Parts: sequence; C-alpha cells; structure tokens
Amino acid sequence: METTEKKYIGILTSGGDASGMNAAIRAVTRSAIYNGFGVKGIYRGYEGLIAGEVRELTTQDVSGIICRGGTILKTARSEAFTTPEGRKKAYETLVREHISALIVIGGDGSLAGARALAEEYDVVCIGLPGTIDNDLYGTDSTIGYDTALNTIVQCVDKIRDTATSHDRIFFVEVMGRDAGFLAQNSAIASGAEAAIIPEDRTDADQLEQFISRGFRKTKNSSIVIVSESPKDGGAMHYAERVRKEYPGYEVRVSILGHLQRGGAPSAYDRILASRLGVGAIEALMEGQRNVMVGIHNDEVVYVPFVQAIKDDKPLDKSLIRVLNELSI
Ligand code: F6P
Repeated sequence: METTEKKYIGILTSGGDASGMNAAIRAVTRSAIYNGFGVKGIYRGYEGLIAGEVRELTTQDVSGIICRGGTILKTARSEAFTTPEGRKKAYETLVREHISALIVIGGDGSLAGARALAEEYDVVCIGLPGTIDNDLYGTDSTIGYDTALNTIVQCVDKIRDTATSHDRIFFVEVMGRDAGFLAQNSAIASGAEAAIIPEDRTDADQLEQFISRGFRKTKNSSIVIVSESPKDGGAMHYAERVRKEYPGYEVRVSILGHLQRGGAPSAYDRILASRLGVGAIEALMEGQRNVMVGIHNDEVVYVPFVQAIKDDKPLDKSLIRVLNELSI
C-alpha cells in the first residue's frame, strides 16, 4: 500500500496539432522532473482524459522529439468534454491518477475547456498556446504558427514559378480559421500581390480593390492569398468571381490544406515551446492557476483564460499597408 501519495502534473495536447507541441511536451516534462514533480501524459486530449488514457512520462520518453511535428500524446477535438458529464469523468480521472495540476496545450477551444473544468472543480489548470492560427490574445506568437507560416511561404514560392510561366492569377487558400495572421504575413513574405483576410472586412470589396489597384498594369501574373473563411467560400469563391466578372484572365486555385500543419518545427517554434514549457512549471510553482502562459515583448506573461479566449487578438493593420505598397 502507498504510504505517501506522489503528486503529479498532467499534460495533454488538444485541438488541431501544431508543430512545436512535442517540444512543449518535452519542456514541461523535463522542467517538472527537474523541479521534483512527477509527470503524467494524457493521450488523445480531453477524450483520453475522460477515458483514463494516462501514462507516467520520464525524461527518456521525451528524448528525440524536439524536432518532430505533430504530438506524441496525440490529440482530438472532444465533443464529450463540452458536456458537464464529460468533465465530471475527466475530473474523476485526475483524482484517480493523483494529478493535482493540468497543463493543456492547444488553441482557444482547448483553453475554453480548461477554463470550464477549473470553474466546476478545484483543479489547477495552466494553458500553453498551441495553434497554427496565432489567434490567442496576450501572446505574440502561438506554438506552430511560425512553422506553418514558413511552410506556406515555401509553397507559394513554388506556385509562383507556374504563375509566372503561364501568366496566371493564383488564388492560394491558407488556414487560420477566423484569423488572417497566416494569410497576411505569408503574403508579405512571399511577395504576393494581395491578401484577402477576415480582419479587412470593410464595406469595400477586397477583390475589386485588388483589381483596381492596377492588377496586370505592370505584372503578367499574380498571387492572391485568401484566408479560409466558411462565410466567403474562400479561394474558390474569388476565382469564380474573377472568371465571371473579369473574363480573359487565366485563373487557378490552390488550397494548401493540412500540409500547413505538419513538419519539423522551426527553430523559432522550438525555442518558443521550450520557453513556454519551462514557464508553465514556473507558473505552477508561483501558485498561478487558470492562466495561459504566453510571451509578449520577449517576456513570459500570464494571461487569464477568459482574456486569452475571449479578447480578439488584433492584427496590426499596418501590415495591410506594407503589402499594398510593396505589391505595385
Ligand atoms: O485551428 C487550426 C486549424 O488548422 C485551422 O486553421 C483550421 O480551420 C482547422 O484547424 C482545421 O481543422 P481540422 O484539422 O479538424 O479539419
């Protein structure tokens, strides 16, 4: 029979995978062990927490993963965890496994789940921003965003070869859900002619603006990066419009899809994830609870869940001007 119950820190990844999640798992595990805690990995996000898919992690378990995309803990989008019954089962797993604090790596839905759990039960939760969308308020960058951005730029560089050779307009659709960080910054970095992003939804039609800015006055080909948007129909929608409203242009669509999510994390994401992982254990030792650990102006910051999830992260509007001025 156990005489003294060892206390554990639980860690899970949730929502869409993002490159650098493994680097964060490694950092949390090693920093926790370094500081005298035990660590338990929870598999398949909140689904695994509900089902009790838990295993103790050692420093060896996280060897050789800093360079790998995806997440060794696997991930899921859990419907069950959005219900009080699901969260009750999840809480029971934490009690059974002697997990006294939970570290959740994921996007806004995942941190909203952590917040709900912490409100209903006496559980200490710490969040780490892990999403390619970069849409969490309070941190300058999220784990996975830089890698995805670099992947998009590499793809657009290749697409440009065809666009130039055939004198075509390419509409390239990128991920980001409701946020245009990936679209706007990949457009700047790849020298694209325009970006259509949700944050620029003024009364003026963005396609018309692009055409009237002088498309094809000085160039024979163009690349327009379109942020995915269920409301607009994304790149397909704009390509169709050009075909109808401006016949004569040769138009193609390229939807980059899930290749944006995988691959080895960039050095930036590895460092970010390592700093945030160490920051999460530090936060716990300082008695923080129910906060997301982020980095703002190169300093580790604690952002209350409610703020990280609810507040809109503003896209710097000067980026729109930068792209427009440089795409003449
Ligand atoms: O949140 C990350 C993200 O890749 C979004 O950019 C995208 O809209 C969504 O996930 C896709 O989700 P799924 O992989 O479940 O289709």
